[in-house]
Formats: sequence, C-alpha cells, structure tokens
Amino acid sequence: MAENGALLRVENLVKSFDGLRAVNNCTLEVRKGCLTGLIGPNGAGKTTLFNLITGFLKPTSGRIHFNGERIDGLPPHLTFRKGIVRTFQVPRELKSMTVLENLMLVPSDQAGERIWNPWLFGFRVSRQERQIYDKALQILEFVDLQHLRDEYASSLSSGQKKLLELARTLMCDPQLILLDEPGAGVNPALMKRLVERLELLCHELGITFFVIEHDMDLITRLCNPVIVMSNGEVIAEGSPEEIKGDERVLEAYLGGQYLAGT
Ligand SMILES: Nc1ncnc2c1ncn2[C@@H]1O[C@H](COP(=O)(O)OP(=O)(O)OP(=O)(O)O)[C@@H](O)[C@H]1O
Ligand SMILES: [Mg+2]
Repeated sequence: MAENGALLRVENLVKSFDGLRAVNNCTLEVRKGCLTGLIGPNGAGKTTLFNLITGFLKPTSGRIHFNGERIDGLPPHLTFRKGIVRTFQVPRELKSMTVLENLMLVPSDQAGERIWNPWLFGFRVSRQERQIYDKALQILEFVDLQHLRDEYASSLSSGQKKLLELARTLMCDPQLILLDEPGAGVNPALMKRLVERLELLCHELGITFFVIEHDMDLITRLCNPVIVMSNGEVIAEGSPEEIKGDERVLEAYLGGQYLAGT
C-alpha cells in the first residue's frame, strides 16, 4: 500500500486531446476499503480519468500508483492482472452470449483457455470449468440475475446490464472496482439492490470502489468521501454533505441547480 493507506494514488495526472486538457493536473487518492465517489458536470474528465487508471488511455504526464507500484502507461490487461477492474458508462456485454456465458468468459489465467489443454489435461480442465461455473452461478445469485442466466445478454434491461457488468467484475476477485455510472437507467428497486450489494462487497469482502455517478441520491447513500471534478481538475473533496455545501461545487454545476434538490 502507498503512504496514508491509499490503495490508488494519482499524482499531477494530465491527459490532453489535441490541446484540450481533459484531465488537468489531477491529484487524488482512493483509500483501501472505501467507496469513493467521483462526481462532476458532463465533460469534467471523469471517464477519461478511469481510462487512464485502467490503461485504456496513456497519460500525457503524471503518475498513477496502485498498491505503491507505478501503473501509469500499463495496458488494460496488465492493470486487470494487478486487480483493477472497471465497468463502462455504456455497458459492453457480449450480446450474443447468455448471461451465464458472459460471466464464464471473463478472462483469467485459467487452464483450459488454450485450445490444446483439454486434450492433455482433460480432468483438470473440467474440474476448473466446474469451479468457474459454480462461481458464476453464485455471483449471479448475489446480483439477483440467476433467473436470467440463459437469456441473451442483449435482451436485458439497461439496469440489468449494469448489474451484469458488476457481476463480470466479481469473477476475477478484484481489489479495486471502478464503476462508471452504475445507477444510470437502473429502476428504484434494482437501485436499492445495487446499493446493498456494493456495501456488502466493500464492508464484508474489503473490495475498494471508485464510483462515477450523476445521481446525487445514490452518491449520498453510498460514497464517502466524494471527489468533485470540473474542467479536468479536482475542485473539492469531502463527505457528501460537505461537497453539497461547497461553493466551488455549486458553481461548477450551473449555479447549483443540479445539486439543489438533493
Ligand atoms: N478520445 C477522445 N478524444 C478527444 N476528446 C475526448 C476523448 N475522450 C474524451 N474527450 C473529451 O474530454 C473531455 C472529458 O470527457 P469525459 O468523457 O472524460 O467526461 P465525463 O466527465 O466522463 O463526462 P460525462 O459525465 O458526460 O460522462 C470532454 O470534453 C470530451 O469531449
Ligand atoms: Mg463519463
């Protein structure tokens, strides 16, 4: 772990797109075992920050430490191996696969993935596949999608797709899960389920979460601390109550209308 109990530490991070600084000198920390929120107006740079942390984009400059180790510039499959997984703002389910298959195909260093393995080590592979199958079923039950296991992923509602994305992240025993707008398109009943599940994963299993969300109600219930970005910069950090009363935050959100009713 890095200093101060930070699992993830971002230092002076910059990402420029043709002169536009989508992420502009960001410094922040995500503490181990916390649900940290990330909010900010559209275009603030939140998703870009997630893309930098997970290696989908390379930073223009700056550093990212995970567990005290430099990870900036590592490609996604290596940040994944270190224990960082993410969901996407627009779910990327494997549409022509069933819900169960979507989970079973999450990449890992499984024996049996290489096509020659089944010939040579048939017994070991079938036992391992059985374990993956059992794990997938347990996770589907955990997110309440078990009744849809044989449905095509494309047929799920947008809220169910968000839960499927969460379920996929759990297949690989992650340390840090980055959720990009998990509440978008999720109905209130599913939302309640989602909040309960995330709290359980964090408090019981010790998984750390970094959550982008526009729904202030969800952020308030779930996250502490909350980090606020605007125009690529971190402009505030604190408890949900603190940031709701922070003038810079209210200004960033069009004179406060966005947060006013929450
Ligand atoms: N690949 C890219 N090429 C060029 N510009 C980009 C690229 N990705 C993002 N941007 C720009 O960077 C800025 C930040 O975008 P980003 O998607 O990170 O914002 P966001 O905070 O996630 O917004 P939202 O809440 O709408 O999802 C925006 O101005 C966006 O147009
Ligand atoms: Mg975004």
